Amino acid sequence: MEVENKNKNMESRLSNLLGGVIDEAEPFMHLMMQYRCAMLEVTTKLEVLNNELSMQNNSNPFESIKCRLKTPESIVEKMQRRGIEFSVKNVEENLTDIAGVRVICSFISDIYRLADCLASQDDIIVVARKDYIKQPKENGYRSLHLILDVPIFLTNEKKHMKVEVQFRTIAMDFWASLDHKVEYKKKIQDSEEIANELRECAKIISEVDTRMENIKNRIRE
Ligand code: GTP
Ligand code: MG
Repeated sequence: MEVENKNKNMESRLSNLLGGVIDEAEPFMHLMMQYRCAMLEVTTKLEVLNNELSMQNNSNPFESIKCRLKTPESIVEKMQRRGIEFSVKNVEENLTDIAGVRVICSFISDIYRLADCLASQDDIIVVARKDYIKQPKENGYRSLHLILDVPIFLTNEKKHMKVEVQFRTIAMDFWASLDHKVEYKKKIQDSEEIANELRECAKIISEVDTRMENIKNRIRE
């Protein structure tokens, strides 16, 4: 399991971002620790499912899991963009993607299976579900997104945290990572043409995902 952005020097970076307001820095660090715990909770649940399902079917329902905590920079940027005053309370109440888990599967059926198993666990609440596989975005983006509410158990309290989980196939992930690079270079030449090309690739990838699923079903029969 990869844990990106350990957020080293987070406290000083946050103070710089907020122009030296340090009051909020310590509780902010505390909140980030709690999100990290929630991320661990969700990845452990997925690993457990992977262990069980791989024994039943002789194949792994997911290929890999990646986790990331949103950086203080992008938290502050998102709060500003939404016009919400920065406070630890407001961050917690308004942002649902501070803890992010990405699950990469081989097959679309594995995505729905894992998502359903996770969602039906009795300590988890699905706060939101966006199915960009059944309804891809206009640019061709496909993934299944869940916003989960998960409890974490700390020394003196039980706390509910939000975690964003994105489920994708390997092919969808390949597409999304290139699309992400394009997004960051908006001013590149021929951007219209590139967008069309990406839309075309998304269509091909979608067909490939379906055909791979069919082949898998045929060899299992
Ligand atoms: P954000 O404010 O960006 O979090 O979007 P949102 O609240 O409308 O949620 P949505 O479910 O649409 O997107 C959440 C996340 O999905 C993004 O932060 C990206 O990681 C991913 N995502 C959504 N759309 C795209 C896309 O078109 N391309 C790529 N590469 N990733 C996307
Ligand atoms: Mg986001």
